[in-house]
Amino acid sequence: MLDFLNRKKARPVVEAPSVAMPEPVRDGPVSKPDLLSVEDAKALDVGTMTDLFKEHLNPGQFHFMKLLGFHKVKIDRAEGMYYVDQDGRKILDFFGGFGSLAVGHNHPRILETRKKFQDEKRHEIAMAFMSQYASALAHNLAKCSPGELDMVFLGSSGSEAMEAALKVAERAAGPKRPVVVYAENSFHGKTKGVLSITDGPLYRGEFKLLENGIKVPFGDIDAVENAFKAHPEIGVICLETVQGGGGIISADTAYWQKLRKLCDQYGVIWVADEVQCGLGRTGRFYAFEHHGVVPDVTALAKSLGGGKCAMAAMIAKRDIYMKAYGTPRTAMIHAQATFGGIGEACVTSIETLNVLYEEKLIDNAAETGAYLISELKRLQAKYPAIIKEVRGQGFMVGLEFEDFSQTLPAVVRPMVSILDDKLKGSLSGFVGALLLRDYNVLVAFTEYNRNVIRLEPPLICGREHVDEFIAAFDALLGRGIVAIVKDFVKSQVG
Ligand SMILES: Cc1ncc(COP(=O)(O)O)c(C=O)c1O
Repeated sequence: MLDFLNRKKARPVVEAPSVAMPEPVRDGPVSKPDLLSVEDAKALDVGTMTDLFKEHLNPGQFHFMKLLGFHKVKIDRAEGMYYVDQDGRKILDFFGGFGSLAVGHNHPRILETRKKFQDEKRHEIAMAFMSQYASALAHNLAKCSPGELDMVFLGSSGSEAMEAALKVAERAAGPKRPVVVYAENSFHGKTKGVLSITDGPLYRGEFKLLENGIKVPFGDIDAVENAFKAHPEIGVICLETVQGGGGIISADTAYWQKLRKLCDQYGVIWVADEVQCGLGRTGRFYAFEHHGVVPDVTALAKSLGGGKCAMAAMIAKRDIYMKAYGTPRTAMIHAQATFGGIGEACVTSIETLNVLYEEKLIDNAAETGAYLISELKRLQAKYPAIIKEVRGQGFMVGLEFEDFSQTLPAVVRPMVSILDDKLKGSLSGFVGALLLRDYNVLVAFTEYNRNVIRLEPPLICGREHVDEFIAAFDALLGRGIVAIVKDFVKSQVG
């Protein structure tokens, strides 16, 4: 079936011609290239997948998958809290797609909704007409949002929702106040506008970014106040309510309440990025609801797609939205993109919101998340030399390891020195790799802080899943750091 893949496209080693030759103009009927079918795709084995991934997707990323041993896994299907791989092995998902799987994998109500929508041959693209699905989803999002957060823009990624948030805020703030405050260790996406307020050198690369940002330390209200005082041209402040990429970092209620006051006092628009922490993950629909404050603009994505599709939303206070785009002359400046509010994605999100409340998943995140944190703290007391801190709320949990690079016994240090730079001094790579290999558990890493593992399981996670995770984690840590490091290094060189 996949024979032609074996006849890999020969890559002739030829001298580059000094003048680029034009592609031949093709006449006659169009012939079908050697395309894989959907069934071919499902049947790809790990070796072929590897070739195609390296050839056409991201060879550099493969390097990291290999480092962690993740490159050997082909996921066959997924249901609820588990992936199932090519050998029928069930993998407990405490990664949760960085918060994209609130309702778990392939929730039956989401599948049914999508199937019915397809069977009824409903329309998807409604750019010429109003969409009943987009209208209903916008209504639901306004109902889920406190205060005057009533106006909704639909898109298809967190980055797009955050771009929309920045644009609506910039227009409402006006041309005399173009400066945006953002936080150290922030992550708001990889498109160029929000990349300008994302604080990761890795992501910022050497792109030419917008130069209207002022960076402040996260959680430091004096820094915000000083910036507002010193720079009257500040019109917008943009913050994740809980920093995900930063390693699950939050600020206290006093910070958020003072921030709200300062924004009102200085007329600054507060944009709360809830792409990762929103939709019930911390035990409230929005994480800012823990603090009794409402931002002026917010953004959701990830789990809004029910784990089955791409959906994102920017939600703004009506007066801000109207200032930015409220007239026929300004209405189309940032109207929906081609796939914003596409039919099947909208009904998926409508059903997701209903499931969240009807199955009490937000309450479950609060209660079972508290149980997870208390169990992790028990392990911290048991392994004080390994676990430095357990933090977070609900099912947005960060677990920081002690930096062992200095404390590792001298005999093991040379072993670590042969490893990739990304792994030196960081236990999370070792732990994550062995949790998957030996205990069938998947956890997430943190780019900005290599010593932090992120736990963001689906909100359907029950106590039994927490117990399964804790038992695996306990068994792994019980081996001791030296054994963990030796075992991992052996898997790298062996
Ligand atoms: C807080 C936050 N904002 C924005 C984004 C960007 O979302 P997307 O990857 O869907 O563009 C992410 C993604 O991880 C995120 O965590």
